[in-house]
Amino acid sequence: MPFRHQVIFLASEIYPFSKTGGLGDVLGALPLALKKQGLDVAVITPFYGRLSTTAYPLRLIHSNCPVGFPWPPVTAEIYVADYHGLPVYFIQRGEYFDRRTYYNTHTGDYFDNCERFNFFCRAAMSFIHLMDGPPALLHCHDWQTGLIPAYLHFARRDDPFWRDTVSVLTIHNLAFQGRFASRLFLESGLPPEAWHMDGVEFYGDFNLLKAGIAYADLITTVSPTYAREIVTPEFGCGLEGILAKRSGSLRGILNGADYSVWDPGSDKYLPLPYSVEDMSGKAVCKANLIRELGLKKSLLKRPLLGFVGRLREQKGIDLVIEMLPRLLGEQHVGMVVLGEGGAEFEAELTELAEAYKGQLAVLVGYTEDLAHRIQAACDIFLMPSRYEPCGLTQIYALRFGTPPVVTAVGGLCDTIIPYPLPTCTGFTFPDADAGLLHDSIYQALEVFDTKPQIFEGVRRRAMLADFSWERSAVEYCKAYRELGLPV
Ligand code: ADP
Ligand code: GLC
Repeated sequence: MPFRHQVIFLASEIYPFSKTGGLGDVLGALPLALKKQGLDVAVITPFYGRLSTTAYPLRLIHSNCPVGFPWPPVTAEIYVADYHGLPVYFIQRGEYFDRRTYYNTHTGDYFDNCERFNFFCRAAMSFIHLMDGPPALLHCHDWQTGLIPAYLHFARRDDPFWRDTVSVLTIHNLAFQGRFASRLFLESGLPPEAWHMDGVEFYGDFNLLKAGIAYADLITTVSPTYAREIVTPEFGCGLEGILAKRSGSLRGILNGADYSVWDPGSDKYLPLPYSVEDMSGKAVCKANLIRELGLKKSLLKRPLLGFVGRLREQKGIDLVIEMLPRLLGEQHVGMVVLGEGGAEFEAELTELAEAYKGQLAVLVGYTEDLAHRIQAACDIFLMPSRYEPCGLTQIYALRFGTPPVVTAVGGLCDTIIPYPLPTCTGFTFPDADAGLLHDSIYQALEVFDTKPQIFEGVRRRAMLADFSWERSAVEYCKAYRELGLPV
C-alpha cells in the first residue's frame, strides 16, 4: 500500500494521547468522523514526555527524519500509533517535547515555545515530504501549527511536491497567538517577504497564528457566532483587521461531541450509567459525589451546581467567585468546582471552600474522570465565559442532563437554547457580569424548585439534543470541496 494520505491534520494535542482542553477532544474525534465520510486522514502531533500510550502502543518508523534549515544536522524520530484505524504520527525530539507539561509551567510559557513549534512544523513538513506522494490538504490547528500554511505557501512556488497541496487553518482560540520577538522570524526559514503587515508581522512581533491566517487557503473557526465575532475589535484580539480582510475565506463550523466518550449511558467513569429513559443512575452519581467530597447530606434533595474548566478569565471563573458567597449564603444549594489555572483563582476558591465547608467543594487539578463524574452528579452546569469559540463542556452537560447556565457568546449561543423558549435546553444571560450570572442562576433555581415538571422538560430536551461529529464532518467536507478536493 502506498504511504501517503489525502488529508493530514497537524495539531499540538490529540485525546486520548495528549490533552489540555477542547483542542485535544476535537482531534480525538473529528479525524475519525472524516474517515467515516470516506476520507483518507492522518494526524501529526508532538511526542510529549507525558503521553498516554497504554491503549494504543507506539511504533518507531523513522529514527532519523532530517528537518533541515535552520538546524541542518537536526533530525526527528517519528512514531506511529493506530487509533481506530487512524494513523497518528508523533514527532519526537527530547529536548523540545520531553517535559512535564506541554506549553507552560506555573511561572509562565516555556521560553523556547517558538523554537519548539517551529521545529514541529518543519519536522512535520519534512516527514510528509518523505511520503510516496503529497497530501491534497494540510489541516492545521491553532498557533502551534500556524507556520505550516506559510511554509506551504512559499514552498508551492518552487517545490513541485507541494504544488497542488492546499491548507486549512482552524482557530480554536484567538487569544492564544504564539507572539514572539521579531528576531525569531530570522530563524524561521520563511523568506523576508513574509515580514509584512499582511503576513507574519504583528506590531513589530512575529505572530505564528497570524502566519496561518495570512497564508491558509481557508480559515475556519469552531462556531458560526465566533466566526462573526472575531472580525470585530471586541473579540478579534488585535487580529480583527486581517480576519476581516480574509472574511471571504473564513467559515464557522460548530464542533461536535464524541458520544462514545461523553454519554452517561456508557461512561466508564460513572458508578451507575443512566439515560433519558432511566434517570435513577444520575441520583446515584450525585449521592456518590456528595459523599466523596464531604458535602452535606441534606444537599441530596437540593440543586447541585458544577463548574469544570480552566480557571481563567475567559471562563468567567472570577464572576463565579464574586457571586458565590451571596448565592451560598442565601440559598441551600451545593457547588462543585474542578479546574486549574490562575494561581489567584485557585487560592480564592480554596479559601471559599474552607468558609463554606459542606456546601462548596473545590478540586484544583486536572482529572479526566472527575470531569465526567461532576457532569453526571450535578443538576445545573455553570459556564459564564467572557468569550467562547465553541465550548465543549456545555455540550457534554446537555447530554448528562445538567442544564447549563451560560453567557450568550460565541459557541454558547449556537449550542444552548435559552429558557423560557418552548424548545429551551438551558439558561443564558447577555453579558459576562457577576450580577447577571447571579440572576440567571436564580432563574434556573426557581424553575428547579417551583416548576419541577418544566425543569424535567429542559433536562430531557438537553439530553436529546444531538451534537454528534457527523454533522460537523459533513460541513468540513463541504469546506474541503470549496478548495477543490473531490470529497
Ligand atoms: P477549552 O478548550 O476552552 O478549555 P472546552 O469546553 O472546549 O474548553 O473543553 C474543555 C475540555 O477540557 C473538556 O473536555 C473538559 O472536560 C476538560 N477539562 C477542563 N478542565 C479540566 C480539569 N480541570 N480536569 C479535567 N478535565 C478538564
Ligand atoms: C478552545 C476554545 C473552546 C473550544 C475548543 C475546541 O480551547 O476555548 O471554546 O471548544 O478550543 O475547539
